[in-house]
Amino acid sequence: MQTRVCVQSRRTIRKFLPKSVPQEMIEEVISDALWAPSWGNTQPWEFIVVTGPALEKFKAENKNALMAGMKPSPEIQMPEEWSDTLKSRYKEVGKSVLSSLSIPRKDLEGRLNYYGEMFSIFDAPALLLVLLDKNLMLEYAMLDVGLFMQTFMLLACDRGLGTASLAASVNFPEILRKCLPVPENKRIGIGIAIGWPDLDSPVNRFQRNRASIDELVTWVN
Ligand SMILES: Cc1cc2nc3c(=O)[nH]c(=O)nc-3n(C[C@H](O)[C@H](O)[C@H](O)COP(=O)(O)O)c2cc1C
Repeated sequence: MQTRVCVQSRRTIRKFLPKSVPQEMIEEVISDALWAPSWGNTQPWEFIVVTGPALEKFKAENKNALMAGMKPSPEIQMPEEWSDTLKSRYKEVGKSVLSSLSIPRKDLEGRLNYYGEMFSIFDAPALLLVLLDKNLMLEYAMLDVGLFMQTFMLLACDRGLGTASLAASVNFPEILRKCLPVPENKRIGIGIAIGWPDLDSPVNRFQRNRASIDELVTWVN
């Protein structure tokens, strides 16, 4: 696939087909994505790929924790405040997702069920967890991790796979640490759901928006 087409056609997949992804395929995508650049070629990332019964157990526990009202405590802090501009973009995507699924904003139960699906990793057959050393300077290392993530997702898209970066997969690190062999000296960065996209599902088809170049770029000659 042409790079430009790949960049534009990758989108967050929130409904997967009930079909597993061969381990060799995930291995290939990771191997290729390891060519992502990093500061001083430090490659400050390590990964755990979770599938099968281990993933099913994690999905169930992660969802139960959400439903039980457990307080999120991600190991990489999430923003609590945004500027109005960022807040409106964030709200817009939430609205698009819910309306694509015909869940009205006031349907609390419908929304909670949807969040339950998100915390069940949208039932993807595989989850890639990105780990980084606890002693790294976080802001800088996250530049590298972001580069890996996008490279990985584009390469997955190129092979017809769907992905979703999921903050919802790392909100309860104690569950991940209980279910998976996460080393004590590693910080859990982010999870990426991987699977075959259900391209007919409206949640994978709604129109996405981006700010215009005029809003974002200052040209200096
Ligand atoms: C770090 C990160 C965390 C994200 N976490 C979630 C999440 O928990 N749930 C979700 O539905 N989407 C999540 N997303 C997906 C974003 O909502 C999505 O990338 C954004 O709306 C742009 O849409 P697109 O990926 O379809 O182009 C996350 C994306 C990133 C980069």
